[in-house]
Amino acid sequence: MSPFSVAVTGKGGTGKTTLAALLVRALIEAGESPVLAVDADPNANLHEALGVEVTKTLGSMREESFKESIPPGMTRTEFMELRFRQAIVEERGFDLVAMGLPEGTGCYCFANDVLQRSIAMLRKEYRFIVIDNEAGMEHISRGTIGIPDLLVIVSDPGARGIRTAARIRDLAKSLGLSSVPQVLVVNRWKGQSSDVVPGAPDIGIVIPEDPAVEAADLAGSPVGSIPPGSPAREAVRRLAQEILRRVKEKGTPAVS
Ligand SMILES: Nc1ncnc2c1ncn2[C@@H]1O[C@H](COP(=O)(O)OP(=O)(O)OP(=O)(O)O)[C@@H](O)[C@H]1O
Ligand SMILES: [Mg+2]
Repeated sequence: MSPFSVAVTGKGGTGKTTLAALLVRALIEAGESPVLAVDADPNANLHEALGVEVTKTLGSMREESFKESIPPGMTRTEFMELRFRQAIVEERGFDLVAMGLPEGTGCYCFANDVLQRSIAMLRKEYRFIVIDNEAGMEHISRGTIGIPDLLVIVSDPGARGIRTAARIRDLAKSLGLSSVPQVLVVNRWKGQSSDVVPGAPDIGIVIPEDPAVEAADLAGSPVGSIPPGSPAREAVRRLAQEILRRVKEKGTPAVS
């Protein structure tokens, strides 16, 4: 069975990376490892949010494998698959891979084919995949990371944020993702009630403004490791529970 993949999208600066890191942690805590964390933002920072170091990206491996000579006895495809594997950082409970920069101007069709196949093979090793996207939906629209099982759209609490989230929903539809379930997450909610945002339909979850997230940001420490019981961590734990409920309906993902 294939893994369950969650793509985190939304306007710039709404909290996608914060949510993705907390979600990876929440899934591990719920016993759902191994999780694959994918940083699909060329301006990669999911590794910092998870407290891991990344030196290679799939993009940098694609460049390098073009320049290097292939070791004897290996096909170019095998060599590239090996290089792509080397970009994966293994941690307790999860692995992380960063997509890196998009390709340059050369002809990358072959490399991208190998990359897509490598990702397809890699996917099978995990129960869950959490993808932190850049503000656009570049990788989703190009099909690099496959079609997600759930689209989490993160919004700030203002009316404008909610409207942008609605536009992202439309964009998802135009990208052929209309059958992919979506959850709207309103982040940095400062109101009293934690479950009502006026004018916003279909809200999956509300994440409160959390001083622990701010403190981690200021200290440069991994936001994924804010203390248990912190409001944002609690809210994302509930989101993880909701995801697990949906997965049960669909069938439990298993590592094949
Ligand atoms: N619930 C929260 N409480 C307090 N601060 C938050 C919360 N969520 C996110 N932030 C802060 O908001 C800022 C943006 O968050 P983050 O980097 O996760 O957003 P992003 O959507 O990934 O941004 P980008 O579009 O640049 O990738 C960070 O400084 C983060 O610490
Ligand atoms: Mg981000």
